[in-house]
Amino acid sequence: MSDPVKVLEAAFRDAIGAAFGSEYESHDPSLRASQHADYQANAAMALGKVLKKNPREVAAAILEKLNVEGVCDKVEIAGPGFINLTLSNAFLTRQVQALSKDKALGVVQANEPQTTVVDYSAPNVAKEMHVGHLRSTIIGDCLVRVFEAQGHHVIRQNHVGDWGTQFGMLIEHLLDMGEDDAAKELGLGDLNAFYQQARKKFDSDPAFADRARKRVVLLQGGDEATLSRWKVLFDLSAGYFQTIYDRLGVLLTKADIAGESFYNQLLSPTLSELEEKGLAKESQGALCVFPSGFAGREGDPLPLIVRKQDGGYGYATTDLAAIRYRLKTLKAKRILYVVGAPQSAHLNMVFQAAREAGWLTSEARVEHVPFGSVLGSDKKMLKTRAGDSVKLVNLLDEAVERASAKVAEKSKDLPSEEREAIARAVGIGAIKYADLSSDRVKDYVFDWDKMLAFEGNTAPYTMYACARVLGIYRKSDEADRAAGDEALVISAPEEHALAAALLRFGSVVELVGETLQPHHLCGYLYETASLFATFYQKCPVVKAGTSDADRRSRLVLCDVTARVLKHGLNLLGINVPGRM
Ligand code: ARG
Repeated sequence: MSDPVKVLEAAFRDAIGAAFGSEYESHDPSLRASQHADYQANAAMALGKVLKKNPREVAAAILEKLNVEGVCDKVEIAGPGFINLTLSNAFLTRQVQALSKDKALGVVQANEPQTTVVDYSAPNVAKEMHVGHLRSTIIGDCLVRVFEAQGHHVIRQNHVGDWGTQFGMLIEHLLDMGEDDAAKELGLGDLNAFYQQARKKFDSDPAFADRARKRVVLLQGGDEATLSRWKVLFDLSAGYFQTIYDRLGVLLTKADIAGESFYNQLLSPTLSELEEKGLAKESQGALCVFPSGFAGREGDPLPLIVRKQDGGYGYATTDLAAIRYRLKTLKAKRILYVVGAPQSAHLNMVFQAAREAGWLTSEARVEHVPFGSVLGSDKKMLKTRAGDSVKLVNLLDEAVERASAKVAEKSKDLPSEEREAIARAVGIGAIKYADLSSDRVKDYVFDWDKMLAFEGNTAPYTMYACARVLGIYRKSDEADRAAGDEALVISAPEEHALAAALLRFGSVVELVGETLQPHHLCGYLYETASLFATFYQKCPVVKAGTSDADRRSRLVLCDVTARVLKHGLNLLGINVPGRM
């Protein structure tokens, strides 16, 4: 345990238990950052109310039992009963030395690695990826990295929409067009145009619509020729999605695709099981599951339609088969669905049905990880100036282009090729960081100027800070580096503050894994980068006149800071160039 906050919390629990009895041990010591010390514990205020005692007396009783020897230098009661705590420099020195030796930088490895399924990205074949898919991809990718860093076994599942009645018209359109031309269009990522042309013909040309409907029957019947056409559409789209994933630098590969079609074989066994368990009932010609706790406006139970009137299966059937497969075959202990907020009711009904079917028990945890919409500067859904939905590749191109201009200014001494690589990293990093640094559940406003600013809680700021610290360490003297972390002595207040922050890294990563809110990590990295800037200003490292001892000690702080920032940014999916 390296996080000072956790060390203190444990000490408070013991002290509260010793002072007032073990039933109060779980009482939150509520530690906060303080202006007068490192932390302020507000435990006595709330406890005072519960115990009907003066908080100052409660605070004194806690202090009497509080054992923070070797951790704090100073512990004081202030005001109406706050307890101010100042960490000792010797404690910070020892802890940062240990942190420096820890490859995981304080990220605790799970004693029991959990099989964790993360369902994310999930665009639809022959349809454009939209900004909602972009958010899912970015957030899901960050969570995957966090769980892997904690030592969990993560299974990425890209639940692409690759099945359904629309494939009848899409295949017919493909045949009309010829595979080569279709390949050109789809390969370029003109997925919407292809889809809209097919739709238009379907709506206006009865003969085409008829062919399309017959094609659906052939597809569902497993007709070889039809399936091979379907595969063409699938491959073209999957190839296109992969180009986007590669540009974004996310972990998804084609091997992670387990789309709707993947569950075709499992639909009928899933349905049979639901019927046997008495969960699927006939209703208006369709077969439905009515998970308890979900009602419409009139209080009527809401259905998950598992088999439509025409005998076809839909989105809900696939999701039921998927959750069953994930729990029973993949043996997932945790499943996350990184899907936009509008699908919340659907997913929660699927989860409840899985509970009622006995697939989902207390052994596993299943969560919807919803996210808000991306808004334009007009606070409406992000659109192009012409009012069309924004095409993802164009967005990425623009990000890199805008970043180029900024990077040209900031990194003007670097060769142009290197600058281009930096611009790519900054542009993509900015989009990711903007997404991840806001509360996931809320809508966020897409703002180029804000996300590309070199000041504030942004990708450029933290990336440049990281590269700068990496550079200081890299350019340092061999002999100084060889002194190693034994050289560390925390003494100046700026060193003290930076050290305390570095020690919190592991807890912050843990918090992201629990809350599934990456913005905690962004806020932390920003704070740490800012503390470093203050430290570097006040505590010269490589400047002439700095003593050997100071320089060597401070280099240890530089090294740990660089590693924490780099690792943290990597967890967000952001790669930091060696120099910027
Ligand atoms: N393809 C769907 C869409 O674009 C998202 C699928 C999400 N995952 C799931 N298991 N339902 O909206």
